[in-house]
Amino acid sequence: MANVKKIALVTGGNKGIGLEISRNLAGAGCTVLLGARNAERGQQAVRQLEQAGLGDVHFIEIDVTNQDTITAAAQQIESRYGRLDILMNNAGVNLRGDGLPGEADVSAVQKVFDTNFFGALRVAHTMLPLLRKSPAGRIVNISSGLGSLAFNSDPFWSGYNTKFIGYNASKAALNMLTVHLAYELRETKIKVNSANPGYTKTDLNNNTGPQPVEVGAIAATRLALLDDAGPTGQSFSKDGPDPW
Ligand SMILES: NC(=O)c1ccc[n+]([C@@H]2O[C@H](COP(=O)([O-])OP(=O)(O)OC[C@H]3O[C@@H](n4cnc5c(N)ncnc54)[C@H](OP(=O)(O)O)[C@@H]3O)[C@@H](O)[C@H]2O)c1
Repeated sequence: MANVKKIALVTGGNKGIGLEISRNLAGAGCTVLLGARNAERGQQAVRQLEQAGLGDVHFIEIDVTNQDTITAAAQQIESRYGRLDILMNNAGVNLRGDGLPGEADVSAVQKVFDTNFFGALRVAHTMLPLLRKSPAGRIVNISSGLGSLAFNSDPFWSGYNTKFIGYNASKAALNMLTVHLAYELRETKIKVNSANPGYTKTDLNNNTGPQPVEVGAIAATRLALLDDAGPTGQSFSKDGPDPW
């Protein structure tokens, strides 16, 4: 599809890493559907990219915890474009009340799962028929090093003491979604991978991350634009493959 514009959907595209991925994909020549749960914040982000000279970016309302908004978005994409080439499952939360298993507020853990895992599952499930119509579909699940069982078990890993049962387990479950979707789609041209942005300065961590969003968006952007020889069913940071 060298000369055909790719249609990309980014959930939680209004700020942070999702906004930077949207900027990158628009810069790479994609039509970007910038998903946001709040219309004002979504339209403001679209204007920001337009002012930077990136014209083909359009707000689309999606709250990943609300199936009706996802269904409506899929209907809009179907009628306007007839297919979806790139699904970027980026929307995510880290909520107060999460923590070690013995201390966490279980309802906060459930809410984190509802966005980080069930949200991505809802959107992938709903968008799959549109992705199947793409000549080269790509699904990227924005995971985290905190979702790796191997890293969580390694006392020498820099994030070893960051243990939020809701957040970390939701990203581990998201990684399982990557593996299962890749399996389900193994006979198709659709590739599915997890991206680990690395610890990035955004509102999610009260802007404590050491690296800027320009770096946090590298792995996801690369996976969205993989060519037909690229991998599927794996996890990558900007530096290469990550362990599960
Ligand atoms: N920052 C890091 O160090 C880091 C590291 C590893 C992985 N990640 C992952 O990277 C992704 C992006 O996070 P970020 O760091 O860029 O954080 P962020 O700046 O807080 O952005 C999160 C985005 O998700 C959206 N969102 C939250 N709940 C939503 C829902 N129910 N429906 C639709 N959108 C929703 C937010 O929208 P609102 O503006 O409406 O709240 C916002 O656009 C997340 O999946 C996160 O877990 C981040």
